[in-house]
Amino acid sequence: MAEVNGIPNGVVVPTHTSSELKTTPSITMTAPTDTEPSTAPLTNGVSETKTAEPAVESAAEPTTSAEEGMFGVELVSPAIAASLPPTYTIRALRKSDYSIGFLDVLRVLTTVGDITEEEWNGRYEWMTTQGKGGYYLLVVEDQGRIVATGALLVERKFIHHLGLVGHIEDIAVAKDQQGKKLGLKLIQALDFIAENVGCYKCILDCSEANEGFYVKCGYKRAGLEMAHYYDGSTSKDMPVKKA
Ligand SMILES: CC(C)(COP(=O)(O)OP(=O)(O)OC[C@H]1O[C@@H](n2cnc3c(N)ncnc32)[C@H](O)[C@@H]1OP(=O)(O)O)[C@@H](O)C(=O)NCCC(=O)NCCS
Repeated sequence: MAEVNGIPNGVVVPTHTSSELKTTPSITMTAPTDTEPSTAPLTNGVSETKTAEPAVESAAEPTTSAEEGMFGVELVSPAIAASLPPTYTIRALRKSDYSIGFLDVLRVLTTVGDITEEEWNGRYEWMTTQGKGGYYLLVVEDQGRIVATGALLVERKFIHHLGLVGHIEDIAVAKDQQGKKLGLKLIQALDFIAENVGCYKCILDCSEANEGFYVKCGYKRAGLEMAHYYDGSTSKDMPVKKA
């Protein structure tokens, strides 16, 4: 599905915390169909039949290694990788990305805080051990610098016969890289992962200001996000949490 708008099924912000700045009310977005079988175009010309019943979670177990990052290269859309400009690569997050600007990219999105390398390593290791199979963080790198990132969280349910639901989170493109279709490609690449690990739909939350972007990515408005903050803060002022 090379076409800009020819993206697979839906996205919406998760039910817990969205780290997006929420100065305006958030809305929930999802793919056009998540209840009926359909043949949705996948990124760049690939087609996949989607069914109402979620695929079993056996689909593609991540193969973690220090070189590959937090999941295997088989989950990185070849079509999206091939569509990037020559000096750009898209890949799984690596522990070493701490030192090449990963957190700086996230700072275009919201408060990140001063995270030490030790804290970073601890969170990364948790995601790839206890959290294995639940976290798929993608990065776009250009000449030794992270320029964009996005995350897919895979929720394992009892409903829909042990269905898997993808939550797209923390989409961020460095300011000097915006408008180059990196955001769109990240969403397409996250959709590719979601479909290939067996999610029957993907959802995300966003502000009204970003709705148009997600519509371009093939998502549609699907609801309203609600939140309850336990420390009295707003989403712009997230508490520092330890795992
Ligand atoms: C929102 C964001 C991810 C978009 O990424 P990007 O790489 O700049 O956008 P793209 O170049 O991929 O845009 C794809 C299409 O969406 C459109 N678009 C981008 N942002 C848009 C917006 N806020 N509203 C409406 N349309 C938008 C583009 O014009 C383009 O349309 P086209 O195909 O007709 O040319 C990026 O601007 C960003 O990181 N913003 C700050 C953090 C943030 O808000 N993240 C989203 C959290 S929900």
